[in-house]
Amino acid sequence: MMKPKKVPMPTHAEIAALHLATFNVPGALYAAPGRVNLIGEHTDYSDGFVMPAAIDFAAVVAISPRTDGRIVANSVNYEELLDKTVHEFLDDDFASLRAGRKVHWSDYPAGVIWALREHGVPVDNGFSLTIAGNVPLNAGLSSSGSVEVATAIAVLGTTSLDLPPTKIALLCQRAENAFVGANCGIMDQFVSCCGQQDNAVMIDCRWLEFQLAPIPPNVRIVICNSMVRHSIARGEFNSRRAEIEHGADILRKHRPEIMALRDATLADLNKWGSEMPPNVLKRCRHVITENARVLAAADAFRVSNLTHFGELMRQAHISLRDDFEASCKEIDILVALAGKQPGCFGARLTGGGFGGCTVNLVAAANVAAFTEAMRAGYQEATGITPEIYTSRASNGAHAITL
Ligand code: GLA
Repeated sequence: MMKPKKVPMPTHAEIAALHLATFNVPGALYAAPGRVNLIGEHTDYSDGFVMPAAIDFAAVVAISPRTDGRIVANSVNYEELLDKTVHEFLDDDFASLRAGRKVHWSDYPAGVIWALREHGVPVDNGFSLTIAGNVPLNAGLSSSGSVEVATAIAVLGTTSLDLPPTKIALLCQRAENAFVGANCGIMDQFVSCCGQQDNAVMIDCRWLEFQLAPIPPNVRIVICNSMVRHSIARGEFNSRRAEIEHGADILRKHRPEIMALRDATLADLNKWGSEMPPNVLKRCRHVITENARVLAAADAFRVSNLTHFGELMRQAHISLRDDFEASCKEIDILVALAGKQPGCFGARLTGGGFGGCTVNLVAAANVAAFTEAMRAGYQEATGITPEIYTSRASNGAHAITL
């Protein structure tokens, strides 16, 4: 994918002004956040449990309807304006992606408009779009989910249709799976739609139901960006997913009621795991134990037991590192460093893995010292300057009124 320019995030008023200057008509503005996952990694695509929170970083889309059957999309981050017919923007783009072209920033909005059209949403008259975002890219914080959801609610805002947030999340996931070609689960798009300020969201990815998990007021979410993203990430994600499905198939032969790993237990694995290739067994063990940790973590939050929550994060990291093999040396350095800092309850890799960020739960009073120690320690160990963000849990997708 081409590299975005390092442009500062414009304010909402600046995005509105840019839209007006580019297209000569005012645009309606919509925002959708990225996310950080507190616990529950690689469980969403086997109907399991996750506990992410929406973050203070978001994509913003300004939209105005057109009548000439064109989609004209202006990316602030990539400083590129594309002007194509709806057909070229959606169908030709889809075909060239399928033919093996590399992913381009416009594939995310195109995929969403494609999925909305497939669902019967009128899109053929076209749109003018201005797209900006400040979710760090390639950092495992779901910049793609934020662009997808912001585009979806923007396009829906031009119609009289009122789709429920879970349906919007599913259509965005469909865009990423079928159009862009990444086999992600539902977590990112779901929390980008349904996030709530000061709450993590415990999502049941089978029934698409969620419960809010209030983040205790004396604790902050600190995100440490390792600034590395190993190029294997995308291929490994898809192959992990295939391994999980292979494992579920083997268990299902013995217990047909196992629809997905969510239904399996460690006892099942102990009984029939020997029929699995060793890697498949390890991947399944991660998912089964991780689901149990998410449920325990939700209970720990409920009674503000941060020590227990932190211990579950520690175990989750070890499982993701050793059984799921989705960590890397830079991330392990960040997790180990965090474990030594006063006031840090827990730290783990967050998101798809193979680089990206760690999520840390840190006592509010210790955040400044934590940030400083992490920056210095990581720099000394790797020569890389990390980016460190403190985010509160924020609201999900919404229209912006200026
Ligand atoms: C990526 C995917 C999510 C989820 C995580 C791992 O972020 O988009 O659906 O699978 O990885 O937990």
